[in-house]
This record gives sequence, structure tokens and C-alpha cells, in this order.
Amino acid sequence: MIYSSYMQVAKDINYMEQFGADEGRGFYGSYYEPGEYVDRRTINKLKKEWTKHVKEKYELTKKSKGPLGRFLAAYPLRFKEFCVLLDLIEENNERSDFEIDNGMKEGKDIFKKHRVRYESSQLRRFGLVYKIVNPLRPMKTVYEVSYKAQLALKNRKYTDEYRQLDMALEEESKRNSPDELDSLYYVSEPEADLSDLVAPRELKEKLRSALSRETKKEQIFRKWGFGKVIKYGRGTTLNFRGPPGTGKTLAAHCIAKELNRKLLTVRYDQLQSSFISMTEKHIHMVFKIAKTKNAVLFFDEADAIALNRSGLQRSWEMSQVNTLLKELERFEGVCIFATNLAEKYDPAFERRLTMHIDFNLPDTAQRVEILRKVLPKKARDKDLSLEGLNLEGLSGGDLKNVALNAAGIAAKEDSEKIRRSHIEEAIRIVRSGRYAEKDGEATYLG
Ligand SMILES: Nc1ncnc2c1ncn2[C@@H]1O[C@H](COP(=O)(O)OP(=O)(O)O)[C@@H](O)[C@H]1O
Ligand SMILES: [Mg+2]
Repeated sequence: MIYSSYMQVAKDINYMEQFGADEGRGFYGSYYEPGEYVDRRTINKLKKEWTKHVKEKYELTKKSKGPLGRFLAAYPLRFKEFCVLLDLIEENNERSDFEIDNGMKEGKDIFKKHRVRYESSQLRRFGLVYKIVNPLRPMKTVYEVSYKAQLALKNRKYTDEYRQLDMALEEESKRNSPDELDSLYYVSEPEADLSDLVAPRELKEKLRSALSRETKKEQIFRKWGFGKVIKYGRGTTLNFRGPPGTGKTLAAHCIAKELNRKLLTVRYDQLQSSFISMTEKHIHMVFKIAKTKNAVLFFDEADAIALNRSGLQRSWEMSQVNTLLKELERFEGVCIFATNLAEKYDPAFERRLTMHIDFNLPDTAQRVEILRKVLPKKARDKDLSLEGLNLEGLSGGDLKNVALNAAGIAAKEDSEKIRRSHIEEAIRIVRSGRYAEKDGEATYLG
């Protein structure tokens, strides 16, 4: 008594599952005449017996030389793992298009149902099933049965063509492991408000008007009727341009803070995945998550993504920009792009943004003001004057480094507080670092 094909096992298992189907109402399966009442205890006993029978037959099959026996000799799956495989095959057949279907019914996790852990299962080890995280629904994973498994079960040849399809599946399962999805973006509490930003009045006014656009949405879109005229592209989309260290990232924090929202920062290296469809889905996903979390969406160093399409050769880069444009039209929240190399932006992308703000290097007075902000009062010697230091050419970011270096020098000397000499020494250190970098900064704006 052995199974010769997986279909036979599936049939027996289906039969077994019927024992639990009408729990509490009696069992009216094909085994009994309609109307005949069988109590729960009897049903459970039957179920147990039947399960035992199927399992025994399964174990015998493992040792047999039949078609299914050969499969199990190559992939000695535990019975529950085999049940998972069968359920997945059935589900895969029913499922037509799992991709970007928001109406997809929430299936229960087949692995959980059979109490099998994917990570430690033979199904994974033998490459029979791949776990794929759907970027649109990070919580919802999809399990794909490999062609290797499907063909072997049907005793068909595993050709190179199928092997390649499986390799793509494997790639996809690696690329979208949950860890990687987590690292696609991060959500943080904003760490600064507008009072921390040292900038010309006009710049701050621009930021304030962007903020009002957002906080007075009700008035603008309903009372003033803009909602009727403008159907899409209602979001507040800001473009921060300027050299490194001029406060662009800081300003993004300020915006989020003033709106009392979280900041969702996109991590680029992940978005740069060369896997075409995933890249678009990733973009789609960050917009979606920003929306559900009501967070300010922040693309730092955005030139990496909003590349000028005329210079693009690869189609996936094109579709990436197109996807970004589409998402921007639909997005109704605040989305900020920051870049050091604005001239590389795609023109259509640039037109789509509602406001461009240029960040420049600070002037002398602003440098002193920034230095004052980044040097905590408690750390400063009470006689310390910040006037008359040679801060020429330093950006806000440089000044932050000056402050930190000065703290390091003072601490090394066991000095009670930071003195002017520490700061002068720190400025030298930061300058020497900058000159060393100079070659790599050919892309400097401004
Ligand atoms: N305009 C500024 N006002 C106040 N602090 C600044 C300013 N620009 C830079 N800084 C300081 O330098 C740090 C780095 O600046 P950042 O915002 O990351 O620059 P960017 O994003 O333009 O490269 C900030 O955290 C802040 O401490
Ligand atoms: Mg920055």
C-alpha cells in the first residue's frame, strides 16, 4: 500500500480535512448518510485514525521505487512539509495574479497551518519553495513552489529554461527578505525645529509658506475651492538644492517637526536595486507607507533617483523615473527631495515639484551663529568668544565637525571646558580634511 502520485496523497488529505469541516454541527460527509448525527468525539477519533493511516502510507511510499517514491528519495520531506507543498500547489493554481492586486484576498499562512517553519524546513533547503515578500504588503508573504518541485512531482524533465525561472525566483526571494525591506526606509522622530536652522529670512519664509500650504489644506482645497480645480498633484513637494552641509537634511527635520509628523527617509542603495519590477514596487511602497503613517517623505540625495531621462540608457532607470512621477501626482502629503547636483534632475520631474529652495553656504555672521548652536553652552568656557575666528569657506556641516572635534581635543586634555585654542585646532583639522577631499568634490554646486 503506497502512493504512486502526489495527487493521491492530496485526495486523502482533503478527505482527512473534511473531518473537521462541520465541527459542532455533526458530520455530513460522504462517509455518512445525510442527517445522521455523529458526535464530536467520534469525529475526532476518526480523524486521528485517518491521519495515522495516511502518514503510514506516506512513510512506506518513501521507501518505495514508484514515481512518488523517487521524488521522496531525492527530497525526504517530513509528512507535514509534504502537506505544505500540496497546499501551496493547490493555492498557486487558484491564484492568478498576486502582483499589484490590492483586492487580493488575505490567505492564511499555509506554513503556520501545518506548523512548519519555513526558515528551517527542508522545502527551503532543497529549493522546493521560495518565500517572497510582497513589497506592497510587507506583512503578507507569498510562497512560490519552484519549477524543480512541480516538475519532479509530475515526473517531467527539469530543463534549463525552468532552471532559469527558478533562479529568478531565488534571486527575488533573497532580494526581498524582510531585513532588506526594513532597510529600504526608516522612520524617525524629527530632531530639530525651525529655530535650529540658520538661514536667510527668505529661505525661512519659503519653508513657512510650504508649511501653511499643508496646515491650511482644509481652507485651500475646500473653502477656496482649489480641490475642484486641481485634481492631482496636490501634495507639497519640495526640492532642496545646495552644496553638502548646508542644512538640507536639517531643514527636512524642521518641516516634519513643525507639522508634528514623523520623517520617513528613503534609503537609496536599496532603491537602486537593478531588479526592474521590484524597484518600481519599492517606490510605490515608500509612498504608500508614508501615506499610512502620515509621515513626511524624504528622499535624501535624490539625484540618485530622479535622474535625467535623456541621459539614461537602461529601461529600468526610465521606468523608475516614470514611477516616481506617477506617485508624486497621486501623493497628497509632504515629500522632500534633497540634492547636491540639481542639474542632473529630470526636467519633467523638476516641473512637478511645487517649490525649489536653494541652500547656500553661510556668511560670516551665520557661521558664528551656527557654531554657537552646535556648541552647547555647558561645554563652553565662560570667557570663550566665537568672534574673529577664521571660519571662511566652512559649511554648517563643517562647523558641526569643528564643534565635535573641539570637544574631543578638550576632553583628551582633561580640560574642564572647551577653550578658543581647542576650536582653532579643530578648525585646522576640519580644513585639512576638506582639502584632502577636494578632488572628490567636483560635483559641488554654488
Ligand atoms: N543652516 C544651518 N543651520 C544650522 N545648522 C546647520 C546648518 N547647516 C548645517 N548645519 C549643521 O550641520 C549638520 C549637517 O547638515 P545637513 O543638514 O546634514 O547638511 P546637508 O543635508 O545639506 O548636507 C546639521 O546637522 C547641523 O548641525
Ligand atoms: Mg544631507
